[in-house]
Amino acid sequence: MKVTAQAPINIALIKYWGKKDDVQMTPYNDSLSVTLDTFHTTTTLMPHPDHIFELRINHQTATEAETLKAYAFLTQFESFLKQPAILIDSHNTVYKAAGLASSASAFAALAKAADQYYQTNHDLQTLAAITRQGSGSACRSLLGGLVRWQQDGLIKNIEANTDQWVMVFVLIDTSEKTISSRQAMKHTVETSSLFDTWVHSATHHLDDALKHLKQNNFFAFGQTIENNALLMHEVMRAANPPVDYFTDQTKRVLHLVKQLRTIDDVPVFASVDAGPNVKILTKQAHVNTLIKKCRSMGLTTVVTNITKQGAKTL
Ligand code: DP6
Repeated sequence: MKVTAQAPINIALIKYWGKKDDVQMTPYNDSLSVTLDTFHTTTTLMPHPDHIFELRINHQTATEAETLKAYAFLTQFESFLKQPAILIDSHNTVYKAAGLASSASAFAALAKAADQYYQTNHDLQTLAAITRQGSGSACRSLLGGLVRWQQDGLIKNIEANTDQWVMVFVLIDTSEKTISSRQAMKHTVETSSLFDTWVHSATHHLDDALKHLKQNNFFAFGQTIENNALLMHEVMRAANPPVDYFTDQTKRVLHLVKQLRTIDDVPVFASVDAGPNVKILTKQAHVNTLIKKCRSMGLTTVVTNITKQGAKTL
């Protein structure tokens, strides 16, 4: 038997940064993400012809750490332990570990494939609990559109008019990051003098963001999500020793976004994850202006749209 599943990446607009319970993998604050159509992971599970357990990523045998992580993840499916000799053949259209949410699409695809392969047919929330054992943010990739991941672990769609929304990725550096989000997050929770401020503010940011969505106020929504991302990085920089994912290029792009907004009145809003790349939320009508500006600065961009489709079996 062979099962293939595909999952898109998601980018948080209100960030998850800190686990309250690192066994259940539940967060300190609710987060809000958009599921995007351009980057995804496609994963096939099948019996291994050589009767071993193997993870392949983009046609290559994965590292020992990645293989062990996939193995541990699959132990959540009882039948896996009876027959662990499977081949996981995974293909990413995302750069791995560059703050571009590759682990989110990878674990959502693996969970979705395993659910069918082992015929567990878990309900959405159970599958979300399984998925976040791989990576917290991955549970949000099970759903399309705008997704809220709550402190209690539940995931749900938020209804809003996102028809014209576009997210432009500015690719500054797509090599693997030196400090993983897992490590950086734990270090921030344990040592940042601003961590309590983060939890408090992020909760308010989410309330504000939901209010602005309801009022269809894209500008105020955008300001809120940019403030949230910038605060997350400030909180990391207040850790001891500090964690800083920004490069000079990141700062140049953040400056450009601010300029476009304040001087040229273009509704563009920045978000940055655990890496130097910048994601810019805007509307369809402004994409060309933004891309032209980025090109004139020698920056590479990828345009992504919001997809209503979350993880699915093929
Ligand atoms: C900055 O989900 O990668 O992208 O749960 O430890 O695997 P673990 O972390 P991960 O962290 C994502 C952090 C973020 C913000 C977000 O996606 O909400």
